[in-house]
Amino acid sequence: MVRNAYEVKKQGVEPQVVVLKVSNMFMINYNYLVIDHISNTSVIIDPAWDIDKIDRAIADSGTRLKGILLTHSHLDHIHLAKPLANKYDCAIWMSLEEMVISDFSAPQLEGIDERPWMVEGLKIKPFLTPGHTAGSMCYLIGNNLFSGDTLFAEGCGLCPDIAAAYKMFESLQTIKAQLRSDTRIFPGHNYGKIPGQEFATILQNNIYLQFGNKQDFASYRLRKGQNHSKFFEFL
Ligand SMILES: [Fe+2]
Repeated sequence: MVRNAYEVKKQGVEPQVVVLKVSNMFMINYNYLVIDHISNTSVIIDPAWDIDKIDRAIADSGTRLKGILLTHSHLDHIHLAKPLANKYDCAIWMSLEEMVISDFSAPQLEGIDERPWMVEGLKIKPFLTPGHTAGSMCYLIGNNLFSGDTLFAEGCGLCPDIAAAYKMFESLQTIKAQLRSDTRIFPGHNYGKIPGQEFATILQNNIYLQFGNKQDFASYRLRKGQNHSKFFEFL
């Protein structure tokens, strides 16, 4: 934990990302506590499954939790949003498009668009990235992208039909156009590679970023013989 001025200066203005691996039986998710040590504030991405672990991480950080960012509304990404919002008296953010298709509700829920905003010292830049769901969002905070089930290090999220796959193709093009090569990627799940890979590495190795048109992309994304269990978002 950064505690003194020298260490803060050494770290610069980049937020700290605390990686929290959480699980529920065979489901494994990654939650991220994003910390600004200058204003002593934090936000958390897609909290699920293990409230004790999350509470400990917040306490260890010495920060005030100011908000909960949801990349989409599947259960394994929203599971602890309401209890945490009640406990820490903070906002929950989700895209307006996802609110339309989801029955998730909470008094603290605020619909957002792609306009960036500040949470104390943390600048949040949302990207609307439909495909896995109609209102999926990725969040850029500092040089870190929290990509939910849109972009994994090893692949991309499942798409329910061809229209969704076309949207996913466009969403990945947006990500390719917007990110720096050294942006670190923090997905909702991992399938072998640890979270926080540089985008340049993922760009080289992830087959879903290699397609030049939406038709070829969709054919591959929807190919037969995949694992369509709702608990496995990638294969
Ligand atoms: Fe999902």
